[in-house]
Amino acid sequence: MIIAANLKTNLTRSATHSYIQELQKFADVSSSDVLVFPAMTSLDNFQTKSITIGAQNAYPTQNGAFTGETGLEQLDEFGIKTILIGHSERRHILGESQEFLVQKFNYFKEKGFKIVFCVGEPKEIREASKQTMLTYIKKQYEGIDTNYENLIVAYEPVWAIGTGLTPTLEDIEDMHAELKKISAAPLLYGGSVKVNNAKDVLSVKNVDGILVGSAALYAEHFGKMIQYADELDKTK
Ligand code: PGA
Repeated sequence: MIIAANLKTNLTRSATHSYIQELQKFADVSSSDVLVFPAMTSLDNFQTKSITIGAQNAYPTQNGAFTGETGLEQLDEFGIKTILIGHSERRHILGESQEFLVQKFNYFKEKGFKIVFCVGEPKEIREASKQTMLTYIKKQYEGIDTNYENLIVAYEPVWAIGTGLTPTLEDIEDMHAELKKISAAPLLYGGSVKVNNAKDVLSVKNVDGILVGSAALYAEHFGKMIQYADELDKTK
């Protein structure tokens, strides 16, 4: 399974070092792929083999005049080959358009990056109808190579992110079955995954892993989720 932590705008570089160090005791003995996305200025050469470090964002360029942005050159410095694209906070707070996300996707695909591409619907779309929801989410895949070999998709309902709300397990199963028809890539669930619901979520059919925000800030909690994934793997 794939167990990913999106640390967002949290933890300094030194706190991230301690975090990675603490997490290693779980990742070292795990059969899961453990991914961590630190804040951009907290990126570094972390001494870890069992944890893959990814970028939460980057600009589709090698380098150049893009004030405040991070290019391939800066990611290369730390050997980063994994990136998060299309997270709802970038779509909705930073206003990234589908067109721009496609541009980023194509750039980092061409560079062979592992891409965790996020999709998910806002509350009013979910409340409208299942068809409205599917139409909305399908648009988020437009222009994306759904057959890309290094693609991982994360289904993250916008209304579930950071709210403590989650869809029912039946709803997650239903959506994941639908999304698997669009892309056979590994499919993560994200949105208010915590220690107390992670095992249930990971047990759902077509859930290949989780993308965790706030609860992942505690290495012990995130580590517990890695252990749950391993326990489920063993029972397969
Ligand atoms: P959350 O965030 O776990 O805090 O809901 C998930 C995410 O944004 O990836």
